[in-house]
Parts: sequence; C-alpha cells; structure tokens
Amino acid sequence: MNKILITGGAGFIGSAVIRQLIAETATSVVNVDKLTYAGNLQSLVSVADNPRYCFEHVDICDAAEVARLFREHQPDAVMHLAAESHVDRSISGPAAFIETNIIGTYTLLAAAREYWSGLPAERKTAFRFQHISTDEVYGSLGETGFFTEETPYQPNSPYSASKASSDHLVRAWHHTYGLPVLTTNCSNNYGPFHFPEKLIPLVILNAANGKPLPIYGKGDNIRDWLYVDDHARALRLVLEKGRTGETYNIGGWNEKTNLEVVHAICAILDELHPQGAPHASLITYVQDRPGHDRRYAIDANKIARELGWKPQETFTTGLRKTVEWYLANTDWVKAVVSGEYQKWISTHYGGKG
Ligand code: NAD
Ligand code: TYD
Repeated sequence: MNKILITGGAGFIGSAVIRQLIAETATSVVNVDKLTYAGNLQSLVSVADNPRYCFEHVDICDAAEVARLFREHQPDAVMHLAAESHVDRSISGPAAFIETNIIGTYTLLAAAREYWSGLPAERKTAFRFQHISTDEVYGSLGETGFFTEETPYQPNSPYSASKASSDHLVRAWHHTYGLPVLTTNCSNNYGPFHFPEKLIPLVILNAANGKPLPIYGKGDNIRDWLYVDDHARALRLVLEKGRTGETYNIGGWNEKTNLEVVHAICAILDELHPQGAPHASLITYVQDRPGHDRRYAIDANKIARELGWKPQETFTTGLRKTVEWYLANTDWVKAVVSGEYQKWISTHYGGKG
C-alpha cells in the first residue's frame, strides 16, 4: 500500500498502528482525527515530522470534509478506527456514540464508495476499506465457549450497539455496492498511550499515586486481553492479506478476571515502585456497571489459520512493559489528565477538540 487514510489515528490503537507503519514500512499515512478528549497528538510525536505522515483535523461526520480528504489524498486504503470507545461514557451519554460510531461510519462509507467507484480498474481492485470493531458486539459469554466469527450479534451496551450498527453498515456496503471491505473484531487492548479511564491504565496510575482502585461488582467479570502492538500487527496483516467481505476475530487467548488483572498490576508495582507497597491494599469495591457483560473470550483460530497471525507478547511481558511505560512517561500522563492538552487543542484548533 502506498498511502493509507487512518481515522482515529490520535487514539490509543490508531496511534500504535501509525507508529508501526511509519517505523516498519514505506507506507504514507493520513491521520484523520477530530481530537476528542481521547485523541492525543502527543502520542505521535515520534512520527510528526516524518514526510510520510500527515494530520487532518476532521470530524468523520462532516461529509464535505471527508469527501475532500479522499479527493486530495487519493488513498489506497482506509483503516477506520475513529470511535467513541468507552462503555461507561456510553451509558451516561450515548448521543456521541450514535453520532460518531454510526453516522460517522456511514459518512465515511459513502465518501469511500464515491471515491472507489471512480478509481481506475487496477487501483479499484486493490482498494480496501478496513473497519476496526470490537468483540463486544457479540454480547456476553457464560462460563464456557468463545466468540467466533459466526457468533450471532447481541450487543448489550450503547457502545457495543453502536459498533454493531457500524459493522452491519460496512457489511451492507460490501454486499450491496461491492465495496472491498474487511472487518476485524478484537478483544480488550492494553499498552502504552492508553487513556487512563480504562481499567488497566487507571489502576496503574491510581496505584502509583496511592489512590483507590475501583473494582466494579465483585471483580469476577472476565476480559480477554491483547497487547496493543499485537493488535496493530494483526490489523496490518488483515489489510494486506485478508479476504474481502470477511470478518476476522483478533484475541490473545488471555482471559483474566478483573481482580486477577488488578493484582498482577499491583505485584509489578510492588517491585518497581516499592514505596506504596502493598498496592493491593488500595482495592476498593464500588457499585457495578449497569448491564455489565460477564465474560468476553475470542476464538482467534481463523486469523491464525488463514493469515498465520499470533501475538508476540504474553500477558506477563505486555503488562510489565505497560506499567514501566506509565512510570516512565509522567509528562504524557500529566498533560492528558490535567486538561493541559485540551487547552493546547483549543489554542491550535480553535476550540473544536
Ligand atoms: P480511543 O478512544 O483511544 O480513540 C478514538 C480516536 O477517535 C480518538 O483519537 C478520537 O479523537 C477519534 N475520534 C472520535 N470521534 C471522532 C470523529 N467524529 N471524527 C474523527 N475522529 C474521531 O479508541 P481506541 O481504544 O484506540 O479504539 C480504536 C477503535 O478500536 C475503536 O473503533 C474501538 O471501537 C475499537 N476497539 C477498541 C478496543 C480497545 O480495547 N480499546 C478493542 C477492540 C476494538
Ligand atoms: P474497560 O477498560 O472499561 O473496558 P470494557 O468495558 O470495554 O471491557 O473495563 C474492563 C473491565 O474492568 C470491565 O469488566 C469493567 C471493569 N472496570 C472496573 O472494575 N473498574 C473500573 O474503574 C473500570 C474503568 C473498569
């Protein structure tokens, strides 16, 4: 691929994909991001001056701007990661999720189709629209079993319902208009540059600062964790080699209860940051999330069998790297948490962030 248009590239996973593409390939990247509270250009400092990287401050719901992007940049592929991504925020304020995840995806699909229809034959055949989604569309598992690509959709939160809607739109654009799409559904990611509202970065930072570690319910809900750079590698592989119209589940065979995750973080911190030990004494049980999905677990056999993907990190190695990163990158954390970064966005982008 010569040039990829990446939406949501200033977010957690999108920035990992961009850093990899710039470091490991000759591909050019157009990062399209609205810079919401979750978008952070400081995660892209290492690539910002690279001639193969460019940033477009655009809301994917803005049809005229999205059409301009395709016209001006003439990409060979789209990797669509822009989304509202936090379940708790979707419960207290679902409107932004409907707007960005559903209307935004529709707007992008419509513009991509218009652009793709006008491409010369060879570029038209090679074009790809990759939609990055979540395993949460499948709903919640009981004690046994795994989500496969054939599991019926049963989204339970406003977040997962909005992502499920976007998956269906992408599927329909392939089935009806022939747009060459690929969809991936991944389990929970963790790693550096993760906004500290999600469980793992929140617990690392609270524990390091002697603050309570909030556990919803009994802490026995299960998530299937994948290191973000492994997800980024999987996405690149699906884009290059995946069969159009297909869905690929991505996961690391790494099921943990939330309590297991929190204890693992505390154990690493007891070693690396002994002044607060034992950090597990900060665990605090709080009211459960409404409609809290019980268990997620991905069957990642299809992507392993068809594309030869497997994760490089184990939970042990990935979690240690993550804790070390948060302890070493206090400036990034401080800017994100203090709101300093949002002030910077208003100065540079006229308060649109
Ligand atoms: P994130 O919240 O860290 O980043 C989302 C990015 O999208 C931000 O940079 C934000 O500014 C941008 N954005 C939001 N609304 C926009 C709009 N209207 N126009 C343009 N940009 C906009 O999210 P993430 O964790 O990096 O997730 C990326 C994608 O991967 C999402 O689609 C999410 O559903 C999916 N996903 C995430 C996980 C996970 O564990 N984080 C797991 C599976 C799938
Ligand atoms: P989260 O990181 O929000 O991801 P998701 O809801 O998309 O799986 O939450 C991961 C798990 O951790 C989930 O079961 C909810 C739980 N959780 C807590 O117990 N306390 C917290 O403060 C947060 C943010 C999450």
